[in-house]
Amino acid sequence: MTDTPLVRLERHSDVGVIIVNNPPVNALSPGVPEGIIACLNEGLADPAIKSMVLIGDGRSFIAGADIRNFGKPRPPVPPGSRSHDLLDLSTKPIVAAIHGYALGGGLENAMACNYRIAKRSAKVGLPEVLIGILPGGGGTQRLPRLIGPKAALDLIVSGRHVPAAEALTLGIIDAIVEDDQDLKQAAIAYARKVADTRPLPQVSSRTDKLEAAKSDPGMFDAKRREIARRARNQKAPYNCILAVEASTQLPFAEGLQRERDLFNELENTTEARALRYAFFGEREANKVPGLDASVPVREIASAAVVGAGTMGGGIAMSFADFGIPVRILEATQEALDRGMQRIRDNYATSVKRGSLAQDEMERRLARITPVMSYDQLADADAVVEAIFEQMEPKKAVFAKLDAVMKPGALMLSNTSALNIDEIASATNRPQDVAGAHFFSPANVMKLLEVVKGAKTSPDTMASTMAMGRKIGKISVGCGNCDGFLANRSRAPFNSEMVIMLEEGALPEQIDKVMVDFGYPMGPFAVGDLAGLDIGAEGRKRRAAADPNYRKLPIADRLVEMGRFGQKTGAGWYRYEKGDRTPHPDPVVAQLIADMGRELGVAQHSFTEEEILRRLLFSSVNEACKILEEGIAYRSSDIDIMWLHGFGFPRYRGGLMFWADQIGPKAVYDQISVWHQRYGNRWAPSPYLRRLAESGTSFRDAKPGRAG
Ligand code: 3HC
Repeated sequence: MTDTPLVRLERHSDVGVIIVNNPPVNALSPGVPEGIIACLNEGLADPAIKSMVLIGDGRSFIAGADIRNFGKPRPPVPPGSRSHDLLDLSTKPIVAAIHGYALGGGLENAMACNYRIAKRSAKVGLPEVLIGILPGGGGTQRLPRLIGPKAALDLIVSGRHVPAAEALTLGIIDAIVEDDQDLKQAAIAYARKVADTRPLPQVSSRTDKLEAAKSDPGMFDAKRREIARRARNQKAPYNCILAVEASTQLPFAEGLQRERDLFNELENTTEARALRYAFFGEREANKVPGLDASVPVREIASAAVVGAGTMGGGIAMSFADFGIPVRILEATQEALDRGMQRIRDNYATSVKRGSLAQDEMERRLARITPVMSYDQLADADAVVEAIFEQMEPKKAVFAKLDAVMKPGALMLSNTSALNIDEIASATNRPQDVAGAHFFSPANVMKLLEVVKGAKTSPDTMASTMAMGRKIGKISVGCGNCDGFLANRSRAPFNSEMVIMLEEGALPEQIDKVMVDFGYPMGPFAVGDLAGLDIGAEGRKRRAAADPNYRKLPIADRLVEMGRFGQKTGAGWYRYEKGDRTPHPDPVVAQLIADMGRELGVAQHSFTEEEILRRLLFSSVNEACKILEEGIAYRSSDIDIMWLHGFGFPRYRGGLMFWADQIGPKAVYDQISVWHQRYGNRWAPSPYLRRLAESGTSFRDAKPGRAG
């Protein structure tokens, strides 16, 4: 703890500088708004001060309200007495000086100032919708007055961060300060320049930009239509639209009240709680128990990838995209050429879509060097093996890497399921070996599952987690088991969806339930996209290893028929040439009916709830086993994997957060019924039983046998 107050006033002759100091991001925690008000009053009362600056210490201006305080009781603040209300009424000019981030309540306070200047590298935005609420500090009323309702709608409904240059064009800020200049000095000079300006520019009293809404009254309905699919099941984006709409219909003070009412409707919804949970869960996932700041982290300045297939190429792109030079190895020139061509094509598609500039594509490509000999990988700081999913070839690769890689190189396998300890046993340095499981497409998906083997050293683990963050991933650590955390918790879902077909459900019926729940695509359509032959391989391996493995004859038959999914024009669905739209296929319906009869399974109809719960409870039960074994460090890690690896709707928080809404006891009771009906695969996890008995939530339970 330091003695520095949360907010202080510095006097620079005739300019008062209000400085917020609440590390790490100057969130508006209790005491900060009060501190701003106190300093403002002090500045107003001091005749020597002619104008003021509002600025943040440390790495950011103000990143918004303190999210940890939402959903907790707060003393009511009388209307007109919040910091933005009072900044707005200041009789002396105030300049907000922004560096780092001005987000949410941060930008709202800045908009209540008379002027805003920002460093070129700064970003501003109203991202409240991303945590299930709306800007509740006047943002929905001030931003439309500042930049017009249409642009405000775009920013508030998307929650995106706007770079300073765009903020200047939009009119959110008045000037840019170059990064090599001193922001505080620039702001003091600006404040001095405007000290005598009267009347003071005040966003709340502007109406000029609102006129635009009169000529385009349909913009709000158009926005509702535009977001209908993406925002299904959610309330916050719609309340954001209503609040901006109110800014065009009501006087400022009434608009503020409407904003408050709409905010209050949102703060405690399951959607908002889930999104807050996801925000903190993502940050928590970075923390592996036992690894603290004292564990050294190896610098990763160069990388290597073994295997130039789809995964290997995507992994190489992930490094190149974040400025890290990478070598990519294949056994034959032909495979290497094919791999490099795929990488070029992927980048070219981004250029065509406008998400990547041509010269940036060239820079990224130049960082990827194709090679054919292991010696050429030797000096890389990290190497990721990304060949096909079979143990012996992987061990052979690791033996070769062991022979050439420099001491201390991270030796990583992209396996999605195989035993890391066995892979590591092919080397004389198992302490340097860990799993680094990327998700497909690896350059797009933000998840990295970092797997700790029995001999993986703490600094290998810490360095691999840090490497993931460096290349824009959310690293989630876990222990070693078949399928690790992600695929193992997902596997029962994958089985159950096919088992339900044996009982008479149809792929399109199950897909619809999951899309309605919030998945971007149904699981059968996803299977067709990924390729059904891949899953068939995994099933064979598991069936060979485990005599009790529950076979999936319908899925196997489909693959035997040559229906591998989109790539063969048919899988669970049929596809028209050149079109990815899945069409229900009578051939599949017939196959399902025939096999149901052949297998002698009693047919029945399914409710939507039954489909949803059969799929998700099977995975919750498995997740409990993973937690009990201590493979997962916390239940929110499972959720972060499901959000970023499997398309689980973020506003539902993740598998375990969702299950917590139903309650461990209800989940356990249902699973017990299915255990009786369907046999062993539904045997409830003892961990789940303990939570059900003790009334502990998944979120609060401690992993491990003690539950
Ligand atoms: N409240 C509480 N804690 C916050 C926070 C916030 N608004 N923003 C960041 N933090 C915490 C993080 O949890 C993290 O804590 P940890 O170190 O204990 O894990 C720490 O600050 C650093 O954050 P990041 O690791 O995320 O740092 P980055 O530099 O990667 O990102 C950031 C910085 C872009 C500001 C990012 O933290 C972020 O997006 N924060 C949330 C911003 C936001 O949503 N603001 C709106 C809040 S709602 C609001 O203002 C309501 C108002 O309208 C009434």
